[in-house]
Amino acid sequence: MTKQNDQSFIDQLTLPEKAALVSGKDAWYTATLERVGLKRLMMTDGPSGLRKQNTNAAVTGINDSVTAVSFPSSALTASSFDRDALNQLGHHLGKAARVEKVGVLLGPGINLKRSPLAGRNFEYFSEDPYLAGEMASAYVDGVQAEGVGVSVKHFAANNRENQRFTMSSDMDERTLRELYLTAFEKVVKHSHPATLMCSYNAINGTLNSQNKRLLTDILRDEWGFKGLVMSDWGAVADHTAAIQAGLDLEMPGKGPASTQEIVDAVNAGALSEHDLNRSVLRVLKLVSDYRPESETVEKYDLDEQHQFARKLAGESMVLLKNENVLPLKQGRSLAVIGELAEHPRYQGGGSSHVNAYQVVTPLDAIHKADAKAVYEAGYQLDSETADQKRLDAAVSAAKQADQVLIFAGYPASRESEGFDKTSLALPNNQNALIDAVTAVNDHVTVVLQNGSVVLMPWADKVQGILETYLAGEAVGEATWDILSGDVNPAGRLAETFPIRLADTPSYLTFNADPDHENYREGLFMGYRYYDKKQVPVAFPFGFGLSYTTFKYANLQLNIGSDSVTAQLSVTNTGNVAGTETVQAYVANKASRIEKPVKALANFAKVTLQPGETKTVSLTLNQRAFSWYNPEISDWQVDNGEYDILIGTSSQDIRLQATATLDWPQAAKPKVTLNSYIGDVLALPEAQAALKASGLTETFAALASGETTDQQMLLNIPLRSANMVGATQEQLTQFLTLMHEL
Ligand code: BGC
Repeated sequence: MTKQNDQSFIDQLTLPEKAALVSGKDAWYTATLERVGLKRLMMTDGPSGLRKQNTNAAVTGINDSVTAVSFPSSALTASSFDRDALNQLGHHLGKAARVEKVGVLLGPGINLKRSPLAGRNFEYFSEDPYLAGEMASAYVDGVQAEGVGVSVKHFAANNRENQRFTMSSDMDERTLRELYLTAFEKVVKHSHPATLMCSYNAINGTLNSQNKRLLTDILRDEWGFKGLVMSDWGAVADHTAAIQAGLDLEMPGKGPASTQEIVDAVNAGALSEHDLNRSVLRVLKLVSDYRPESETVEKYDLDEQHQFARKLAGESMVLLKNENVLPLKQGRSLAVIGELAEHPRYQGGGSSHVNAYQVVTPLDAIHKADAKAVYEAGYQLDSETADQKRLDAAVSAAKQADQVLIFAGYPASRESEGFDKTSLALPNNQNALIDAVTAVNDHVTVVLQNGSVVLMPWADKVQGILETYLAGEAVGEATWDILSGDVNPAGRLAETFPIRLADTPSYLTFNADPDHENYREGLFMGYRYYDKKQVPVAFPFGFGLSYTTFKYANLQLNIGSDSVTAQLSVTNTGNVAGTETVQAYVANKASRIEKPVKALANFAKVTLQPGETKTVSLTLNQRAFSWYNPEISDWQVDNGEYDILIGTSSQDIRLQATATLDWPQAAKPKVTLNSYIGDVLALPEAQAALKASGLTETFAALASGETTDQQMLLNIPLRSANMVGATQEQLTQFLTLMHEL
């Protein structure tokens, strides 16, 4: 029998049939070819729960989908810094998808959070490419282990929503490679996703849906991607150009118009049948690899998934401040304030929106545990203006309570897929409420619900701050697990919380131009910027408190042939069991290029009983010591010194040691007539050649660089070294010896 994914099968197909295959049949399915018995494959959002549209729903009925568990959004799950947890999330999503006969899950979204104003940050993992890549890989491995493919999105540099179909993300090559492509590269090479979804935007002027350099040269030729590339919904502007560039599936299809466009292009010679067949084959392979419609029906346990959603959310929430106010003290009276306790914001808007199975609100969970807790709404969610009656009632409840929880958050109406935010401020009525309540009660904890960073002008006035992001349908239980002390917080920020919007790295350029988004901050994004500029932040990348404390000791480095391993011990020095996230950063002292102060290179979670000590081992691979050199179109590692910084956050470094690399695979120092005398004299590799050519002696008088004259003369290139007595013969001999190295 002919396989449905090989060349002989393609040979049986007519041109219109082939043309039909490279466009979606509609918003969620690939084409069916009844004549040859080819079935369709279903694709469904999304990253934090299944959004399988009901069969009778209108395509535009964005939220009319089957019931599914709403898991925490990626902004929260990334804060777990937990590969295993993300892998389990992937398994749960994959299982649900398989049972619902979905072949490909449209997620995860792994773009970086360049600006905190970007509308879709809640759906993305981090400002750091290493963390985003690790989280994404673990998630993808989990989904695909269930026999369901993923579509990793949005490839690439999709960091803003305004004018998302047309604007161009403009940046230099190092920034593209070292930041915005890194997570995709990791997932492609490590987890082999079934598909990638190209983003709406352009990069440096070329729309990603027809960007051959991105979709073929980099993705397939460099990284070895073997899967299919589909478009984001409506991202194709020129289908012929898209196929030629390496895009295989236009989503959604435009019906007969899509087919006719391709048939006409082939007939007119504008599109070669060879290029078309290449994409057809990839579509056929996808359908044959991931067609669960033919499988027998199974069931999955929504309650079990709800419990997992609760555990994942609890393990990911980030305790930002705690002046001995949490866990809440038992037996003392509690006032719960804020409408978000009753009507929580637990998921984002747009294509990731899930028709949740069972939402448990914080108020439900609190009342279950403490029936006497008093509740006041404090503000109105559908307004930003203070409601005096609600405010007064909240203040009076707070006056009478021993401890107060205020549920605050960023409004859903201002944060969604499809548009960017214009402010990081909470609504005025919520800030006013926090001010009023803290004036009458000293024991206030603010519990935040938001998709991305918010400003906290009241941070000094409260005793506790718990960041819960968009926690999924088990929001209430997970929040209470932390507040009550049943779960010891272990989440760490996957993004920096700035003090002011104006402090953020892309503040000067973000959304300034409708056509071009200029990444002028380059490599200095997220903590890489705040570190370098020494801009104070509210809460740094990697930060998060626990109900216990940890001590770090005994750092030892082991330099391998293409990696460095850091080993250290961590001790739980407090009274309760807890989980620490040990973070390893590398500070490159060797390469003479623009570079951040440090970059995350690995992390590990370790759970410890009180008094317990464990050894943690972190391997830092060669990429952690490399930079992308556009001149050689490749990654380069330089020999020399690298500080290995071990911290509990990007700004709380506990241990430090230096690794001096001397790897044969490292770049050879380039010495030419344009090299400066001072640089050449400092090169260990140049010493023998300097001596043999007599230049050591010639330059001896300047070598110490102590006087200003000496410093001036060291800053002369070899080609002008006759000014300090070097002869042509010496220089020629020196360069010949150096090139023989
Ligand atoms: C979004 C994608 C999503 C697709 C299908 C697009 O608008 O950008 O993330 O997967 O719609 O819903």
